[in-house]
Amino acid sequence: MPAKCALITGITGQDGSYLSEFLLAKGYEIHGMVRRVALEDPDHRLSRLRDIRSRLVLHAASLESYASIHRVIQDVQPDECYHLAAQSFVSYSFDDEFSTLNTNINGTHFLLAALKSLAPQCRFYFAGSSEMFGQAQEAPQHEGTRLHPRSSYGISKVAGFHLTRNYREAYGMHASSCILFNHESPRRGFEFVTRKISSGVARILAGASTELRLGNLEAKRDWGHAREYVEAMWLMLQQPQPDDYVVATGECHSVREFAELAFAHAGLDYRRYVKPDADLFRPAEVNLLKGDASKARRVLGWTCRTRFEDLVREMVEQDCRALEMAAKVR
Ligand code: GDD
Repeated sequence: MPAKCALITGITGQDGSYLSEFLLAKGYEIHGMVRRVALEDPDHRLSRLRDIRSRLVLHAASLESYASIHRVIQDVQPDECYHLAAQSFVSYSFDDEFSTLNTNINGTHFLLAALKSLAPQCRFYFAGSSEMFGQAQEAPQHEGTRLHPRSSYGISKVAGFHLTRNYREAYGMHASSCILFNHESPRRGFEFVTRKISSGVARILAGASTELRLGNLEAKRDWGHAREYVEAMWLMLQQPQPDDYVVATGECHSVREFAELAFAHAGLDYRRYVKPDADLFRPAEVNLLKGDASKARRVLGWTCRTRFEDLVREMVEQDCRALEMAAKVR
């Protein structure tokens, strides 16, 4: 049987790199859509793909250009398409609502429309987000929880979620969405709070910094390990019927708890180093996200394995190692 062919948007990111490794191990032929600048600056922008770069086929395209997406889909004719690319930093979406909405909504729409006309049998995955729940009326949140996004990022994900469902219902496409709760790893971008903390601890330990400025320490998130979340993406596309699934650990912790554990792991008291910074608060905060992944467990057989404490430790250790400070980490 010929290898299955997968197209991944956002392949250069945390999830894209884990998903690529996972699919390569399953024998897939993998194509990735990347911005042209990434191909021109591979050391920096393709760093997460360094070890597998030679096994991937990368295509220059932009989420803002239907023509470029159309061309890639025509060339690749994928069996499965994983749409991970987005402007994904919630804080930035307050600074530029227009580009967040345009890029995220149009990008998803362009992909779905191109697949519908060029590869209608292709199975489609949309990376939805727990930010879609926003100011949730209940906890834990599940597939039936009312959506109340609190940022243009969240709104763009709600639109992508509904577009995906509508292509499924209107055109019979195998199009599914995951509602992914926060998922982290040593490959997380530095702008997100977990990596900001783990890299901040490493810098303080190395003497390269004396403090860490953070915003809302009381926000609570359901943090899992990204390596496990990409397994759910693949499982969803192997189902006979397309559907939507929450993927989460079911456990939630505050930013303060994350910081406390991360600093403690390096033998430091976070209260000495973490400085509150009012400028880092968001105009509208999502206070508590906690997911109920029982449908994913029941239908997909998906489970999360990494405990919160182990996730924090892995991130701190890797950042310390990167600064050659591993020996000092207790
Ligand atoms: N980034 C950041 N920086 N967040 C901070 C800081 C800070 O200095 N201080 C406190 N926080 C709080 C934020 O206000 C938020 O409540 C929480 O930490 C988590 O922020 P992020 O790590 O930036 O992630 P997010 O929850 O906004 O969004 C992430 O998860 C979503 C899924 O729920 C992103 O990965 C999204 O793309 C994803 O959809």
